[in-house]
Amino acid sequence: RDVLVLNGPNLGRLGTREPDVYGATTFKDLVLICESAGRELGLSVEVRQTDDEAEMVRWIHGAADSRTPVILNPAAFTHYSYALRDALAQRTAPLIEVHISNPAAREEFRHTSVVAAVANGTIAGFGVQSYVLALRAIAEM
Ligand code: DQA
Repeated sequence: RDVLVLNGPNLGRLGTREPDVYGATTFKDLVLICESAGRELGLSVEVRQTDDEAEMVRWIHGAADSRTPVILNPAAFTHYSYALRDALAQRTAPLIEVHISNPAAREEFRHTSVVAAVANGTIAGFGVQSYVLALRAIAEM
């Protein structure tokens, strides 16, 4: 895989989960959108989702070992997972943090990202297009 697109807790429920915040696009649709954007950019994309912090940390270790670029929506892990941050700090390939919503415009607890400082950059607030923009950024890095 040229790019891994990793998604944290509750993102598997896109489409039914708080559609006023996260939109009507389902997780399945998100996978198709990322795959087709990847094809257009000449990138082979694999999209995964987990509700499990340990599984996410293992995926990051794998990406670190294979130096695979990662697009990551850490979901709620964004705001508190030092384990995820420490795993991400071991990576050398590009890392882009993405969010569907704009956490800076929401509750106070969402204003802190413990992973932002170990990412190349963050794209937030553009709905599922945040992922497409991140794929473009990876293609140009
Ligand atoms: C999110 C924003 C987070 O604050 C939240 O916990 C999520 C989704 C987003 O994509 O907008 O689960 O990462």
